Amino acid sequence: DQHWEPNLSMNSPLDWPEPIVRVQSLSDTNVIPDRYIKPPPERPSFSPTINADTNIPLIDFSGLFTGDEALRATTLEQISEACREWGFFQVVNHGVKPELMDSAREAWRQFFHQPMQVKQAYANSPATYEGYGSRLGVVKGAVLDWSDYYYLHYLPCSLRDHKKWPALPTSLREVIDEYSRQVVKFGGELMKVLAVNLGLAEDRLQNAFGGDDIGACLRVNFYPRCPQPDLALGLSSHSDPGGMTILLPDQHVPGLQVRKDHSWITVKPAPHAFIVNIGDQIQVLSNTIYKSVEHRVIVNSNMERISLAFFYNPKSDLLIEPAKELVTPEKPALYSPMTFDEYRRFIRLRGPRGKSQVESLTSPR
Ligand code: OGA
Ligand code: NI
Repeated sequence: DQHWEPNLSMNSPLDWPEPIVRVQSLSDTNVIPDRYIKPPPERPSFSPTINADTNIPLIDFSGLFTGDEALRATTLEQISEACREWGFFQVVNHGVKPELMDSAREAWRQFFHQPMQVKQAYANSPATYEGYGSRLGVVKGAVLDWSDYYYLHYLPCSLRDHKKWPALPTSLREVIDEYSRQVVKFGGELMKVLAVNLGLAEDRLQNAFGGDDIGACLRVNFYPRCPQPDLALGLSSHSDPGGMTILLPDQHVPGLQVRKDHSWITVKPAPHAFIVNIGDQIQVLSNTIYKSVEHRVIVNSNMERISLAFFYNPKSDLLIEPAKELVTPEKPALYSPMTFDEYRRFIRLRGPRGKSQVESLTSPR
């Protein structure tokens, strides 16, 4: 039944509503199954794509740390503007080693190229989403996205379980541990920058996220070649539910599109850049000074694409609400408090749905 809606107050279901099909196993056919065909308004060509030269802002992070105060101020302002106007930016010289970025991506590519039975051993369920998956949301009859993924927890340490990470290729667990360690460090620096730019104490956002007890998880997206890329999406339009996302894109294949007003801009990644975007929790904490912006992924018929989305999240049982310092009589709190645990149930049940969730949280004033 197309119109069945899960009840959001229910607990996570233990299993998928339909048998799982790995998108990778469909990429050698000539036509895609009906359930991957998006309605016309959602198809890649429906709304205009802005001219190919436009790109999201590019930030040289090393400008913050040279000791040159004027350069630091300019760099802070560039990040501030990017957070307010785009919700998205690319960062180079972020401190994560380029070789580590490449080896992390290649280890995951090798995982997705293992025989199907190796991957199936890690098949996930909607109870936790950890492991090898092929859909987001449990709405029966939903139109699905053209991607498979792997989802794992890095923080809190209590949720980190190497047995739930792939054993093959053999380098993967070690590489992902080191990669995650360095990305979390970069994320901590970004949190300070965002707090300072909002006029808050440097540790204010990090503390709101739980200090050292943040959540951090990795979703590796695998977008197989698609025989009819005009009819499908690799990942439907959504905003990220968490705090902040630090994305390592494919170095050869574009695909990520960011909404700017009424058009889509295809991100052109700089070499060894991270793509950073604001998630819903920072939109809430900043009382909407920073926007969590919609984005989606398009696919193509020639090349597979792989990306590593690292989610830097609040500790899951803390209430997240607009920072008191940013709430004034002229700018009342726009959102009611909610824990991230409760918040992310929405996307886990309903799948990616634009910005409908954060908008539904707007407090009735
Ligand atoms: C995500 C995401 C973009 C990409 O995983 O939330 O938006 O380029 N990924 O894969
Ligand atoms: Ni996303």
